Amino acid sequence: MQQLFPGEVFANTTDFDTGIRQLLPRYDEMLEVIARCLPSTSRRILELGCGTGELSLKILNRFPDAQVIALDYSPRMLQFAQDKITAAGYQQRWTGIQADFGDWANNPENLNIGSKFDACVSSLAIHHLHDEMKLKLFERIAASLTQDGCFWNADPTLPESPALAEVYKAVREEWSVQQGTNSTEIRAKLGASSTQGYSSQDQLATLDAHLQMLSKAGFKIVAVPWKYYGLAVFGGWL
Ligand SMILES: C[S@@+](CC[C@H](N)C(=O)[O-])C[C@H]1O[C@@H](n2cnc3c(N)ncnc32)[C@H](O)[C@@H]1O
Repeated sequence: MQQLFPGEVFANTTDFDTGIRQLLPRYDEMLEVIARCLPSTSRRILELGCGTGELSLKILNRFPDAQVIALDYSPRMLQFAQDKITAAGYQQRWTGIQADFGDWANNPENLNIGSKFDACVSSLAIHHLHDEMKLKLFERIAASLTQDGCFWNADPTLPESPALAEVYKAVREEWSVQQGTNSTEIRAKLGASSTQGYSSQDQLATLDAHLQMLSKAGFKIVAVPWKYYGLAVFGGWL
């Protein structure tokens, strides 16, 4: 079986857009929250772990003057995103860069993307870093934003107790059934991944731990604009 990079999820990239909507409750709503939380004045936006480009697309649709610089370490995901963005006619406002955001956190001089971003966004990607690297990444993001810049991240969070873990699992299973499938069918489409660069399989932290890391990294206002069982959108402003 072909080894995937952590975060690619599905053995075939073409299964991602449908599969992720069957696997995770309210995926589109979660990404819309991120787009809505961006100030209308946002021009230069950094996206970390853009995958197939679904969040980029929502942002480019909503903000006609915005430019998105999108990082992903997977050439397969980046190509898929590039084709989608081009088909939507947004190629002039989107730059895909193959890079590991953990490496950017540790060695920013290796990546020529500059700083002064109005906003940074990410979805379903940063949870692949272990906690020490999450904090380093949040610090790098803070250092790369304009004075009143913001950062919004959507990620699964670690359940606060075993009982809640059961609840979150049941909610996901029910969601998949409502979408006309089930976890067994979805699991058949998943690929196997091993550690790649700074990322490994799920390295979940509690929502509380994330908020503490954000404060420690320099975000003066931290917030959770959306939460649905084990998924949350969180972030804040400098
Ligand atoms: C589950 S996908 C989510 C994609 C997209 N953000 C979305 O919400 O549909 C996670 C993405 O993060 C990327 N990724 C994971 N760890 C990464 C890292 N350290 N550097 C760059 N990209 C990474 C994977 O290649 C994958 O495309």
